[in-house]
Order: sequence, then structure tokens, then C-alpha cells
Amino acid sequence: MTDSSAPLVAVIVVAAGSGTRLALGQPKAFVPLQGRPMLTHALQGVAGMRESAQIIVVVPEDRVAQARLIAAQVSAECAADAPARASAPAIEIVVGGSSRQESVQRGLARLHPSVEIVLVHDAARALTPAALADAVVDAVRTTGHGIIPGLAVSDTIKRVAVAVAVADAVPGARLGTVLGTVDRSELAAVQTPQGFPRHVLTAAVAAASPEMTDDAAIVAAAGHPVRVIDGHPLAFKITTRADLNRAEHLLAAAGEPAPAADTTPRIGTGLDVHAFDDASPLWLAGLHWPGERGLSGHSDGDAAVHAICDALLAAAGLGDIGSIFGTADPRLVDAHGDVFLTETLALVHAAGFRVGNVSVQIIGNRPKLSPRRAEAQNLLSGLLKAPVTVSATTTDALGFTGRGEGIAALASAVLVPRGPALSVPRAADDLNLGL
Ligand code: CTP
Ligand code: MG
Repeated sequence: MTDSSAPLVAVIVVAAGSGTRLALGQPKAFVPLQGRPMLTHALQGVAGMRESAQIIVVVPEDRVAQARLIAAQVSAECAADAPARASAPAIEIVVGGSSRQESVQRGLARLHPSVEIVLVHDAARALTPAALADAVVDAVRTTGHGIIPGLAVSDTIKRVAVAVAVADAVPGARLGTVLGTVDRSELAAVQTPQGFPRHVLTAAVAAASPEMTDDAAIVAAAGHPVRVIDGHPLAFKITTRADLNRAEHLLAAAGEPAPAADTTPRIGTGLDVHAFDDASPLWLAGLHWPGERGLSGHSDGDAAVHAICDALLAAAGLGDIGSIFGTADPRLVDAHGDVFLTETLALVHAAGFRVGNVSVQIIGNRPKLSPRRAEAQNLLSGLLKAPVTVSATTTDALGFTGRGEGIAALASAVLVPRGPALSVPRAADDLNLGL
């Protein structure tokens, strides 16, 4: 084991893709798998490597905060599981690019000076065992060459002339002409992590054309040898819903603890206070209140919404609003409740929960809530896709709220663990990996 402050190995985990083919409305690496984001599973594998490595995770720009949380959780769990380790793995988060290659490049830019061997790994290969990454590192070290894991191809492979979509055929059917059968003994289905001597990969990537489909192709195009070692059936890439289902079932069969199977609701509480500020408009419970004294704050000072976010984050075990929405985030200057609630809901979903209900109480002399209670409840319920009730009280002229210095809000939220992410019909042999 090496000192993690001067690692010899780095793993770049690319997780910045959009997951178009999975089509679940969120970036693929953040889709839940057994109740935890795919990225969590991928990082658990990498963090379990024998050698302490620099781990660089490349994510979409709007997922940086969530990725930091995931990284912190994996790091903490890894330290708890392996107390003999010198230190918890350090995981850095980087914003990705519009292509996989650009995402890899952005990760390479963050390599620690001590790193000699670089692995590039798809977060979408979420079940890849740590032992495969260890084997790749060993082989790069022994040979000094690029190393990629590959599996023998079991299907018969045909070369086919340009396919033509046929009108009136079965939807999606295509016609093509078979040109020949490829000798499959020469073929390997290639996986990640792919490993390279650092200088070989960085020089090859700097000189690469943008169309290369994997890192080994870039290195080979630059004239360097690349060798194949045995891949692993669990290192398959999750691309479609059938792949996601297969991963769900493999985890369940392997006895992976499944938080989603625990149906105990989780509650959280949140409290927020903002002082009145005559120069600001009032935004409260997601609504604009013309003619009322506003509240001070980096955003719009909506104490009710902030208390709700804190309650939701607490229930999901995701920290609190200050740790998710930094005051330095330019998106939050004068941001209103919808921005906070939408982002918080996405985090809650990614952590494997749906919102059961939320109750928020506003404490202060003004504004009078009752005329607009239904409007506020409808707005907040729509944003959180769950019932939100809003109540209000005064404090009998006592304390800062009684003296009219500001407003407090107290929220409770109930979250319900969600079941398996998907239930898509699948062929029985989808699960037959012989594990
Ligand atoms: N990837 C990335 N940056 C991109 C595109 C892809 O970091 N601009 C990552 C993905 O997050 C994934 C890996 O590269 O872990 C392999 O890509 P793929 O399976 O194609 O994932 P997506 O691009 O997300 O999926 P799709 O092509 O269906 O949109
Ligand atoms: Mg892609």
C-alpha cells in the first residue's frame, strides 16, 4: 500500500454521459441501482482496489454537488470496511465534456504529479469488481504496455452491408446483406478499466482525433502496443433498461444489502430563520408577496422553502442545505424556491426515496397566510410531487418573531424508500451469467 498523498496509480471514472439510451430522464451514472446511484456502486469497486489510488470522477456540471456527496459516502464506507488502510480514498470531482474523450481529457488534467499508471473506467460498468482493476494495474506494471480487459465473443458475428430501414416492416426492423462471417476467435468484447503508463496515455490523448471510441484505440493509433487480459462478466456496461434490470437482479442474487427493500419511512426536520429586510421583496413558501416586508438572504430568503429542503435532505441522510447549495454558487443569487426544491427532489430520488408528505409551519406576525394557503400548498405540492401542507402561527409577541424582526419556518418531511428502479420485461436468460 502506498501513501495516498503521493499515489502511483490514478483511476479516472467517467460519469458525465447523459444516458440517452437508458432514457430515464437523468444522467445514467445517477440512476438508482438497488436504491443507490450507479456511480456509488462503480466507486465502491474502485475504492476497494488493493493499492491506494487517486480517484478522479468526471460528472455533468449540474451533478457536482451530488457527486461530492456520493464520493464522501463511499470514502467513509471504505474507511469503515478497511480500518487497516492508511487513509480513506481521496476522490476528486471534475466537470465533464460533451464527448467521452473530452471527459477523459478533463480527468487527465487533474492527475497528481506522482501518478505513473492511469486507469480509465466507465461508471456505467457499475458492478466491475476491484480485482479487475488490480489485475489491469499489475499487467501495466509488468509489461509497460496499455492493458485492456476483454471477453471472448460467443455470438457468431457477421459483416453486413449498409442496412436500409424498410417501410412497412416490423418497427425498428432493418434489411442488410450478409457479406461474410468474421472469425470470432480473433475477437474480444472490450471492457474497462483500461490501463496505461501515464506518459503514453497523456501524449496519445493530446494527439488524438476526436472520433476514437475507447482509450485503447487512441493509444494504439499513437503507435503503442496494447494487450488484452481476461475481462470479467460483471464488468458489463449498463446501456439499456434490460442491462439495468440485469444489474438489479445480480445484486439481489449476490445478497447485496438493498436499502430499497427496507420500507421504513424516514423523517427529517428543518428549521430556517431570515431577518426582515425592507429593501427586498418578500418571497415565502414559493410565492411572491407584493407589499410585504422582504427577508434578507443570499437567495430570496424564503425561510419556508429552505426549511423544507433541510427536512428532505435530513430524512434522506444527505446533509443539509448549506452543504449542498454553496453560497458561492452563482445559480443561487436571487434564486427562488423552485430551484432549491427541484434540485433537492432530484437528490432525494437519486438516494432512492420518494417524498411521502411535507408539513411546514411559518412562525411570524406577517404575512397573513390563510388567504394564500391553498395557492402555496398547490405550488409546493406540484414541485415536490407529494402533498405539502403549510400552516402559520405567531409567538404571542414574544421573541424575535414576536418583535417583528424576522420569520422562522419549521418543516417535517417523510420519505418513502422506493422499490427496484424498474420493472421491464426481460428474457429469462438475461440473468444467466453463471455467477
Ligand atoms: N461519458 C462521459 N462523458 C460523456 C459521455 C460519456 O463521461 N460526454 C461516460 C458515461 O458517463 C459512461 C461512459 O462514458 O460512464 C460510457 O458511455 P455510455 O455508456 O455511452 O454512456 P452515456 O453516454 O451516458 O449513454 P448514452 O450513449 O446512451 O447517452
Ligand atoms: Mg454515450
